[in-house]
This record gives sequence, C-alpha cells and structure tokens, in this order.
Amino acid sequence: MSDILNYSLADFFYNDNPDILSPPDDFMQWINHPRVKHSFTFFEQQLLAAPRISTEILSNIDNKKRKIINLTSYNYLGLSSHPEVIQAAKEALDKYGLGASGAPLLSGTYDLHVKLTRMMAEFKQKEDCLIYSSGFGGNLGAIQGIMRKGDVLILDEKCHKSLVDGGTLAQVKMRFFEHNKPESLASMLEKSKGARTMVAIEGVYSMDGDLVKLPEIAEVCEQYRAPIYIDEAHSTLMFGENGRGVAEHFGLEGKIGVSFGTFSKSFGGVGGFVCANAEIIRYLKGYSSPWNFSCAPSPPVVGGLIKALEVATRDSTLRDRLWENTAYLKKGIQAMNLDIGETESQIIPIIIGSSGEKLMHFAAEIQKRGLFLQPVDFPAVPANARRFRISVSAQLTREEMDRSLNIIEDVIARGLKGEALEI
Ligand SMILES: Cc1ncc(COP(=O)(O)O)c(C=O)c1O
Repeated sequence: MSDILNYSLADFFYNDNPDILSPPDDFMQWINHPRVKHSFTFFEQQLLAAPRISTEILSNIDNKKRKIINLTSYNYLGLSSHPEVIQAAKEALDKYGLGASGAPLLSGTYDLHVKLTRMMAEFKQKEDCLIYSSGFGGNLGAIQGIMRKGDVLILDEKCHKSLVDGGTLAQVKMRFFEHNKPESLASMLEKSKGARTMVAIEGVYSMDGDLVKLPEIAEVCEQYRAPIYIDEAHSTLMFGENGRGVAEHFGLEGKIGVSFGTFSKSFGGVGGFVCANAEIIRYLKGYSSPWNFSCAPSPPVVGGLIKALEVATRDSTLRDRLWENTAYLKKGIQAMNLDIGETESQIIPIIIGSSGEKLMHFAAEIQKRGLFLQPVDFPAVPANARRFRISVSAQLTREEMDRSLNIIEDVIARGLKGEALEI
C-alpha cells in the first residue's frame, strides 16, 4: 500500500478474510496510518450541549473543549431546543416515562403517537400516516412494506442510502436514473415496462442542496403511471407556503403517492414518517418490519414533536428567518468566489475540489478558529468535489453569520488562492 492516501472506505467493502470477525488484512494498516487517522479526526466529535448555534464541543484535534459557532447540525429551525418543545417533551417524560416499552401493535401505541400520526397525515394532506423510531428505519420499512421481489424501484442516483437499502431489503430490482434528468428516468421506466414500478426521489438533495425537478419528473411518472415516493427529510417545515415541503412549493402534492420525511432535521427530534392513502398504510402495518417489530418512538420525543409541528406551522416566522439567513450567507460566500454548486436551499456546499489534504487542513483550521463546519469527503461525495456543507439555521444572528463568513474567507477562500495557508 505505497499510495496509502489514494485509498478510501470505498476500497475495503469486500472482505475475504477467512476470519469473519476480522476486517480485510490491509484495512487496519490503512486506517492506522497517521494521515488517514488525521482525516478521521473530524468524525464523532462530542457536542457538550444542545445543537444551538453557539455551543461547545470536545475537539478531537487537541482534545480540548472549544466554544464554536455550529453550522453543521440539521436543527434548521432551532426546534431541538425551542423552549416550548422542551417543555412539551418534559411533560410527556413526566407522564409517560422514557420509553414506549413495546412495539406499536402490542403495547407501544400511546395517545401521543395517535395524535402525532393524525397531525402528520393532515399536515401532509394524505389520508393516513405511520411513524417510525428512526428516519433511516422508516425508509427501510416503507419500501420493504410496499414492494415485493420482482418489482422495480427506480431511484435518482443521489438518493439517500436508506432508500437504496430499503430496495435491498425488499429484494426488488433497482435502477438508478441520472440525477434530476427526466429523460434518463423515462429510459429507466421504458426498460421496466410490465413490472410493478415505483420512483424514489428527494425534495432537497442533501449533499448539494438542489431541489428535485418535480414538474418534469412528475410528468414522466404520470406518462408511465409510476407512483412517486418522495423523501422530504430536508424540505419538510421549510418549503412551500405552509411548510409542507417541496411538493407544496411546486403545487404538485396531488402527484405524490408516498410522502416520507424524518423528524431528525427541521423538527429537531428523531424518527420518520410515511404518509399515503389509508389502504396502503393499513397494509404497511402488516408488513413493515421496522414498524411492527420495533419499539414505538419514545413518548418524550413524540410529545416534543407534536409541539415542534405546532410551533413551526402556526406562522411563518421560523421559515422566513431561515430563508433570510440562507440568502445572507449565500451572498457572502458567493462574494468570495467560492463554488457553492447548484444549491437552492438551506444546505450550502462549499466545493473545494479534489484535494483531500486541503479539505482536512482547512477543516482543522476552521475549527481552531471557532467554527464547527464539517468536511465531507469521498466516497460520500465525488472525489473531485470534496466539500464543506453548511446547514443554515433560523437561529443564526447577523453577528454569528459575519463571524462565520470571516473564518470561511480567511481559511477557505484565501487558502484556495494559496494566500493564507501553506498546504
Ligand atoms: C434524505 C434522507 N433520508 C433519510 C435520512 C435518515 O434519517 P435519520 O437520520 O432521521 O434516520 C437522512 C439522513 O440524513 C436523509 O438525508
């Protein structure tokens, strides 16, 4: 392994070590190499308080506590630590205890779960809803519950791993279409003629922040009579006049067969929801294993989520602030001539190119200066488009944004020009 730095996690998936409890022989050699170790420094750093904008981490760089401006959490609307949400979660904790202590079918369904389920179905304008303890588990469960061996799941190539793994679990044939290209989708649908087929897309794509081209995609799906399964993990509560998501934004909610989302992003909690017609939800209850063979969501979380939905939808204050902040940060970053790709949302990538070394060097420097902005490396993104990824929050103040922009300019913009930092 002379070219050790050219390897990535993508190279060690297959394992022919005869001892099944050992990784591939050269995996440990690779992962323990000091420069590879350094590139993992940025993962699993401990937050020491709520994921607010001003918070504290235990930095893996020097094992010191560090006060930081947090541009990395998915707490887009600040609901994770909203006082009303915390209060509702505390009340649910006092009344119901910590865990649901049962799967939904047997003893894990509480009045709180029924309330949230109804609220979500109404909010998403679908007949019914199922809620899951995990967003990832929800995608697995909904796809595995709906689809059968021999069916075809056609996915945008940038779809999240949970959608792909749902297809694997369901043992369906999976076909991928070129990102957001309706003509590529049409050709996959053409190949799938005769099979039961569903098309999976996302509202906002999480690595690039671009929106699904829903009008064009929906038109193709309609032509082939293929239902749309949309994952609105990064768009629910933020897009659309009423915050219902990207489908509302485009005025195309009626074209969506299954509306999925997670409670771990804008809601500030954890879990997943799937909204669809009442009959398929009823059917899912029989066959969606991550729902009927897993403990129901924890009551304090559900209590908090009910309040989070109320707070986010009673008016547009939080959404409006999020979009003001997004516009401000985007403008500031674009003024530095940095590449933010095709983002149209609160996810702003700063694409720095192919150098993993630069990425990690900038990441360390940024953090030392008090900004928590995580690097995203290959294979999570293409090797020539390594990046930082800003998650904008409604909670950011002008002062926090200006401080963040200064650090980004000093480290990334000047660093890429070779001015400030030696790489
Ligand atoms: C599009 C999308 N779907 C599903 C998930 C999984 O959700 P969770 O983290 O809530 O399990 C994620 C997580 O980041 C995601 O980005």
